[in-house]
Amino acid sequence: MNATPLLPNPSGPIGVFDSGVGGLSILRALLERLPYESYLYVADSAHCPYGSRGHAEILRLSEGIARYLVNSGAKAIVVACNTASAAALAHLRATFPQIPFIGMVPAVKPAARMTRSGVVGVLATPATFGGQLYEEVVEQHASGARVLSMACPGLVERVEEGDLDGPTTRALLRQYLTPLLEAGADTLVLGCTHYPFLAPTIRTLVPAEVALVEPSEAVARQTARVLTERGLVRPGGTATQRLYATTGDAAHLAAALQHLLGRESDIRALQWHEGMLG
Ligand code: DGL
Repeated sequence: MNATPLLPNPSGPIGVFDSGVGGLSILRALLERLPYESYLYVADSAHCPYGSRGHAEILRLSEGIARYLVNSGAKAIVVACNTASAAALAHLRATFPQIPFIGMVPAVKPAARMTRSGVVGVLATPATFGGQLYEEVVEQHASGARVLSMACPGLVERVEEGDLDGPTTRALLRQYLTPLLEAGADTLVLGCTHYPFLAPTIRTLVPAEVALVEPSEAVARQTARVLTERGLVRPGGTATQRLYATTGDAAHLAAALQHLLGRESDIRALQWHEGMLG
């Protein structure tokens, strides 16, 4: 007999996960829009980067993290990773039907509306471009615009290292941005949650009229909408929690939190064991 899944409790935290520290760009927007919610953030740094892995593996990892978040009382889960969304979002929704999932896809839709030159450049990981989700969004929402996809191996690692504007990071960015600019792109989509942390450096490398589009505020708005629709807005009265966990080095996530969000926190160390996190 199947056990009936427990309904999510509005007092529970919002689960947020990414392969590493990139999802902190989404968490930052969530904290701003929904400061009265509790959060449990998981960085799967033991497997970062996801972008060069196959979809089957990313799906397995995403399911393990989602199960951990659900077992920890998460009432909703933000997949703060384009790569994990591309590989696993539909599967996660089918596996945990009682939990609302907020996923992401590179923001091609607003970019196609904004472009004046008619050329949009999308920066993302190879696995994000390999997914059906991306293909669908380009097909359905980019009519009229020329969309150029630029896979950017190596950038996630630079952000994980905390190197947001050093010579190696700048050289990589130049390598990826130059062909897009030469092709006439005037709108660049940051299609990986690590990349918004590089936005100040990207700004110094592209003409002022080039627009950078990233979805963190839209994701936070969508999360607020979903919580309201499902009756899951947190009732007041108890203290909110911000919990951070990593499958990698706890000191690394603590340093990234400080460096990227200016926050200090204790970090919970997690370990993978036969597909389960604990
Ligand atoms: N930050 C992630 C994304 O939005 C994953 C990057 C990676 O691990 O390759 O795609």
